[in-house]
Amino acid sequence: MANSTPARYMVTSALPYANGPIHVGHIAGAYLPADIYVRYLRARGRDVVWVCGSDEHGAAITLRARKEGCSPSEIVDRYHAEMQAGFAGLGIDFDHYDRTSAQHHHAFAQEFFKTLNDKGTFEVETRQQYFDEQEKQFLADRYIKGGCPKCKSDGAYGDQCEACGSALSPDELIDPTSTLSGEKPVLKETSHWYLPMGRHEEWLRDYIENGILDGEQHHDAKAWKAHVKGQCRSWIDGGLQSRAMTRDLDWGVKVPVEGGDGKVLYVWLDAPLGYITATQQWAEKTGRDWKPFWQDADTQLVHFIGKDNIVFHCIIFPILLREHGGYLLPHNVPANEFMNLEGAKISTSRNWAVWANDYMEAFPGRADEMRYVLASIMPEQRDAEFTWHDFQARVNNELADVLGNFVNRVLVLTSKYFDSEAPAISTDLTAVDDALLAHINAAPEAVSTAIERYRFREALQEAMGLVRAGNKYLTEEEPWKVFKTDPDRVRTILNLALQVTATAAVLLEPFMPDLSAKLSGALGTEAKTWDDAGGNLVAPGTALGKLPILFEKITPELVEEQVALLGPSAEEAGLREVPAQKVETSFDQFQSMDLRVAEVTAAEKVKGADKLLKLTVRTGLDERTVVSGIAEHFKPEDVVGRQVTLLVNLAPRKIRGVMSQGMVLMASTEDGGLRFVTPDEGALPGDAIS
Ligand code: 2FM
Ligand code: ZN
Repeated sequence: MANSTPARYMVTSALPYANGPIHVGHIAGAYLPADIYVRYLRARGRDVVWVCGSDEHGAAITLRARKEGCSPSEIVDRYHAEMQAGFAGLGIDFDHYDRTSAQHHHAFAQEFFKTLNDKGTFEVETRQQYFDEQEKQFLADRYIKGGCPKCKSDGAYGDQCEACGSALSPDELIDPTSTLSGEKPVLKETSHWYLPMGRHEEWLRDYIENGILDGEQHHDAKAWKAHVKGQCRSWIDGGLQSRAMTRDLDWGVKVPVEGGDGKVLYVWLDAPLGYITATQQWAEKTGRDWKPFWQDADTQLVHFIGKDNIVFHCIIFPILLREHGGYLLPHNVPANEFMNLEGAKISTSRNWAVWANDYMEAFPGRADEMRYVLASIMPEQRDAEFTWHDFQARVNNELADVLGNFVNRVLVLTSKYFDSEAPAISTDLTAVDDALLAHINAAPEAVSTAIERYRFREALQEAMGLVRAGNKYLTEEEPWKVFKTDPDRVRTILNLALQVTATAAVLLEPFMPDLSAKLSGALGTEAKTWDDAGGNLVAPGTALGKLPILFEKITPELVEEQVALLGPSAEEAGLREVPAQKVETSFDQFQSMDLRVAEVTAAEKVKGADKLLKLTVRTGLDERTVVSGIAEHFKPEDVVGRQVTLLVNLAPRKIRGVMSQGMVLMASTEDGGLRFVTPDEGALPGDAIS
């Protein structure tokens, strides 16, 4: 286990579906964090392989092909190339990027399936499944949608509800329809290979909750993110159901055993095996052995994914690996939450995204700026939001004004006073010098600790904290004033400022590799590694080079251009993040609700309840008491005299000892506030709302 340095690391990033280009949400979710992690491990001299590839099977691909009127292979060829370009543009530098349509992948996935089949991992069952009679196709996964049984939102797919993240099966959907024809499906019998996941509940619980596998400590369970464990826990607590591992489709890896004609492997069985086949390809390319990376216990396997992939990586894939035998299980799955864009969910189908390729076209050679901003706001613990104005502010105020300005001042002053030769410490150190030196020496450890805990935002803040400290030091020590009277003191100041710059170049490399190369080039520290970082990184006497311009400011025009490129604002386009629509209701159910215009005639706080107001309302029918949970938003005096919408026939109930007869309707706003639903002028208490 775990805390000592392992012999090697096997790092994977979720194989993106080859059904659209890469956007900033993808990058911030599963690729930039892995890239930072891997660059860091390399800087520490660790043995690491990082693989990814295009996920080219499944309904995501076939539905896209159908929409574009072409074949699935045309779709995957196009997007496989486009996605690779998007990753490369942002400096996402996998050791190997593969694709699951490749023959070597099919062969391995079939072999793996056969082994599982021989071992009795599956149960072949004939069950009734939804079938689209018009399209003559069984409907699983994204071929079928309906109401979510868990959160009740509409539009959940046969495999997952995107609104609440629950994994589903088609037979759980409320009022399902085919996404192919829009028709109601019929039930028809078909046979499939099911994975009886219920058999695995016990060991999975111990593995996820305690990090224990086969009675031994496998990893530090406390190092797993709470939301990752929480999702797994709720799956396991809900009882793991059997899940079909095959599909009645013709696009995918053919089922290689008897009875498998016309069927392919479930994409979520074949895709994660792509991590292994990609590693095999990498091994072939480099002449290394892939096996220790997947099979030697002294390897840490880390999967970087988005939160919608958690159950597949923490439950299903581990079951498959363990059933097969001989493979490692994940050491950690540091899943990220989602990145929203300008107030709305990023959406490929609605073209609401910042595409990696478009960004590189608009900001050529400026990958680091995007990497910096995405790392600063990475959705590590909760959903985050990218906006172009925030992008501009971070680039201009943090990269240009702090980092760029500091580094530039250090090199210009060294050139001016010491002919670009790194000066030595030439005076006794003051308390301020000592504090800065201590900061320089402590920074590598602080950044490492955060990265090794998958806290990339914190790691970046630590590295930038050192730059800020250096900037402040230079401003306060004023070498440009001191030089006239005490040039030796200036030697000391600039020596320390150069150590800050060089150490920052090492610590920022995982985040901004281009910047780091420029800085190390100018400082002559290209060959230095993480372990060299600290107060002695730049040797006195080193000839310093010229610094290219590091960061140009982002103009307001450029920002407005990017915002305009997104199309209508999120709100105008109706894309604002709003609660999902509830499941259908009937006209009769709606009619049974008696909604009236009412007027508040008196209001007071309910004793001992911070959130409640006791309202007296005139309903036209009577004057009655209603208890409303609005006290944190409105004072009693704010509401007296207001007209409101009241549900008058809600069954009376006692709230904190007060009998409440009805409910005041409120709109919940994005900022967490409440607004009254007020009728137009001229309405009177008692007017019916219908
Ligand atoms: O959600 C997705 O985009 C999937 N294609 C991820 C697959 S990850 C892995 F298992 F291959
Ligand atoms: Zn749901």
